Amino acid sequence: METKVCRRSLLTESLALFCTGEKLSGGMPRNTPLAAAARAVELLPTDFSKALEFREIFGRSAPVEIDLGCGDGLFLAAMAEQNPGHDFLGIEQTIGRVRSTCRKITQKRLPNARVLRTEIADTVRHLLPPSSVEVIHLMFPDPWPKRRHHRRRLITEDFLRSIARALTAHGSLRIVTDHAEYFEQIARLLPRVPHLSRDSEASAYHSATSTFEERFRDRGAEIHRLRLRKVSEKARTLEHLPRQSEGSRREENP
Ligand SMILES: C[S@@+](CC[C@H](N)C(=O)[O-])C[C@H]1O[C@@H](n2cnc3c(N)ncnc32)[C@H](O)[C@@H]1O
Repeated sequence: METKVCRRSLLTESLALFCTGEKLSGGMPRNTPLAAAARAVELLPTDFSKALEFREIFGRSAPVEIDLGCGDGLFLAAMAEQNPGHDFLGIEQTIGRVRSTCRKITQKRLPNARVLRTEIADTVRHLLPPSSVEVIHLMFPDPWPKRRHHRRRLITEDFLRSIARALTAHGSLRIVTDHAEYFEQIARLLPRVPHLSRDSEASAYHSATSTFEERFRDRGAEIHRLRLRKVSEKARTLEHLPRQSEGSRREENP
């Protein structure tokens, strides 16, 4: 798909200048290589009928990780810094947070991180090519705690199916939330989503923390983690076979 650096509209012009202007690093001139790099950090989708081309975005072919709702970019930038062999794309719709992410990526001079300023669900459904993403991170999705707002929640059966489609053969989705009820709702959806299988080892898979994670940890909140692996239909059937045969054996020999 065609992605354009944020210089095309008035709105994006001001965003690009913010990313590259004095506020970025206390007096950095606009026409430095660093400023030019900052302008290229933020991308805007211009056509939702064409999937993203990661090779075009990052200028190379490498495993891709996506941070859905990357917020201020603390986690995205840390992960990109720790894993130079992977490419990291943040998806975020709030301008202020996109700016913060641009700033972190630019200050750390990370060639392997970008931010796409857009909406998550549309991106997952329409912009991620099939079997293209190694890891999708979803750190503290908005929980919409009031019952009447539950329909605004991002994670639905259809959303998880789209995630599964976008993941590579052994790709994974990693969800972290402080919200127990949302977490349980997600877990209840899983049996209805083919190709995603829950990993038992979900505690220690992140080597970086996000701003919301730090915030909740400081408050002593319980943090729930879920890692889902993509599995083929065949592997899924085999995974379930032992349990089914054990169950039927028990029925035969109570
Ligand atoms: C609770 S914050 C978590 C931010 C970050 N992941 C963290 O852990 O610090 C949720 C983030 O997702 C973004 N967000 C929520 N719904 C979104 C959507 N539908 N499309 C794009 N961004 C979204 C919000 O703007 C916000 O930055």
